Amino acid sequence: MASSAGEWPHQPVLLQQVLEGLDLREGMVVMDATVGAGGHSEGIASRLGEKGVLIGLDVDPQILPHARRRLAGLPPRIELFESSYRHLDSILHGLGLDGCDRILMDLGVSSLQLDRAERGLSFRLDGPLDMRMDPSIRTNAYDLLSRSSEQELVRIFREYGEERHARRIAGEVVRARRQGGLPRTTTAFAAFVSRVVPGSGGRHRIHPATRVFQALRIAVNRELEALQEGLEKAREVLRPGGRLAVISFHSLEDRIVKNFFRDRMSPLHRKPLMADEVEKAANPRSRSAKLRVAVQEGMASDPGMAAQEDIQ
Ligand SMILES: C[S@@+](CC[C@H](N)C(=O)[O-])C[C@H]1O[C@@H](n2cnc3c(N)ncnc32)[C@H](O)[C@@H]1O
Repeated sequence: MASSAGEWPHQPVLLQQVLEGLDLREGMVVMDATVGAGGHSEGIASRLGEKGVLIGLDVDPQILPHARRRLAGLPPRIELFESSYRHLDSILHGLGLDGCDRILMDLGVSSLQLDRAERGLSFRLDGPLDMRMDPSIRTNAYDLLSRSSEQELVRIFREYGEERHARRIAGEVVRARRQGGLPRTTTAFAAFVSRVVPGSGGRHRIHPATRVFQALRIAVNRELEALQEGLEKAREVLRPGGRLAVISFHSLEDRIVKNFFRDRMSPLHRKPLMADEVEKAANPRSRSAKLRVAVQEGMASDPGMAAQEDIQ
């Protein structure tokens, strides 16, 4: 049964653009590789008809029941798995399917994860410094801060957070842990970063800990490695003429997607699609979202599939 958007805590970003970009037809096999609470999947499922197949993956077992509830009763065959998109090929083959017509990857964090203090993903809510989206990962953010060398911390903050003060913050982390005073919670660590970063106090447009939190989350979840691998796997399983849509939320992810599409697939648009002012006002998560769609080379063999002349 279809539901109203307002009922759900996580609003899917760029939903219309995703549905148009995917150019869905009845009977297709579609994979939502980051199904989350099923917001995009609900729109996708309602376009696939009874002969279609929708496969949803997510690394977070706590989120899958939300998707299951949201998608219940929709027409296509629906298969949900607790899995990383790094393994999307084995999941597909395990279902006896040799290929896929459409794949969506909506990167980043779900509001359902951000709003749970115990996940440690938000510096606005007091929780443990955890940040794992996949609970089977052994090293959480606190472990990383406690055990990494100073040089490694500089690399993480600089590379994954594009943090100008990486060296200074890493130095203070190492000093704090030597003195047994490394903060253990999100808000305490955010306050620690604010004290270390010079000039933090009112004039910054973003909270001084924003970049460091982003960096730690990317490092804990190995997000960039997973993305690169996920893109490769998606391309391997897409049928000729198939489409891959990816929504990214920061420049590191977007650069990987842009280069992959340019080098290995046919991008549908020259520039990424972004939310309009109405969506940005209604859903702040959409402000940094960028959608790119690409087509798998080769002619579509199935009349239900995307025609190559659609490419602009
Ligand atoms: C932005 S949310 C997706 C929201 C979803 N499109 C919706 O409308 O509800 C991103 C999701 O990707 C999941 N995720 C993160 N890394 C993943 C990976 N490597 N493989 C599969 N899912 C992943 C997160 O747990 C999170 O639920």
